[in-house]
Amino acid sequence: MNSLDELRARVATALTALQQCADEAALRAWNTQVFGEKGLLKKAMSLLGKVPKAEKPATGAEVNRIKESLTAAYDAAFSEAKEKALQLSLTTNPLDVTLPGRGRPRGRLHPATQILRQIYAIFADLGFQVYRTNEVETDELNFEALNMPAHHPARDMWDTFFTTTPGVVLRTHTSPGQIHVMREAAGKPIRVILPGMCYRNEAISTRSEIQFYQVEGLVVGEGVTMADLKGTITAFARRMFGPERQVRIRSSYFPFTEPSIEVDIDWPKDDPNRDRLTKGTGWLEILGAGMVHPNVLRAGGYDPDKVTGFAFGMGPQRMLMLKHAIDDIRLFWQNDLRFLKQF
Ligand code: PHE
Repeated sequence: MNSLDELRARVATALTALQQCADEAALRAWNTQVFGEKGLLKKAMSLLGKVPKAEKPATGAEVNRIKESLTAAYDAAFSEAKEKALQLSLTTNPLDVTLPGRGRPRGRLHPATQILRQIYAIFADLGFQVYRTNEVETDELNFEALNMPAHHPARDMWDTFFTTTPGVVLRTHTSPGQIHVMREAAGKPIRVILPGMCYRNEAISTRSEIQFYQVEGLVVGEGVTMADLKGTITAFARRMFGPERQVRIRSSYFPFTEPSIEVDIDWPKDDPNRDRLTKGTGWLEILGAGMVHPNVLRAGGYDPDKVTGFAFGMGPQRMLMLKHAIDDIRLFWQNDLRFLKQF
């Protein structure tokens, strides 16, 4: 490069070439030719060494101006090419931006799971472990080992679903778990809760379902008394329902406990459904309990002359109904989101 005029001519050629670059790749090649190591601008700089000293400042200024205009022209051409490529991809592969986005539903725990976890937490504080047992049971464990031989009239209290395998039933309560725990603990002291699903051939109503959760409790050891049972239940009820809710203990009958009790909680007085749900009494039963019957201890391999125990079986869904004044137990397994979303 020997003169400013030559430089100007080559810049003009370069700018024309720039207009003809069809895509990003061509633009990048142009960029190398102009701004690269052996490019036009480097050559323009070499011109500075050749002009007489007096012309240097003017030539320098001119070279700078040229550099700026080339850079600006390149940037403009480059962003135009990008925009064109984008438009092209939008028209050849159109994206419908009016399509509504996919919502991400927020999951939550089922209310029954929530109350179960609260129950576990309270009993964990009281030193209980959680023990899980079978939902499908033998007639022997669901009834016989619990002091209910075949034809025992108390079996009427549990309307049973029978499987097609003789002697195998869907458990009607979590109590057969007592036998499993005792046989596994083999003589050691026991303090467990046994949560799980139970099944009964019930007429479905606002208070009864054919499937429902129970949480069984079992404590076995030397010198365990009814006072321990009362204390445990009362401590539990206070933690679960608050100190202002009343607890009522009535005597009752279960073949596998002697003596037996039932525990009720008072239904909120301001609830208009109170009478209907509590059959006019104002109380809702939440659990059955008692001192483990000697025959049951024996069935579990324990010696009733050496140890005693208490057991209880509670209905967590009933408790949830009580806490939130839910007036229909059928809502739990209907999977109606309008209900479930409230928890
Ligand atoms: N299994 C009894 C029921 O389902 C409840 C219960 C459990 C009663 C443990 C006493 C002791 O009704």
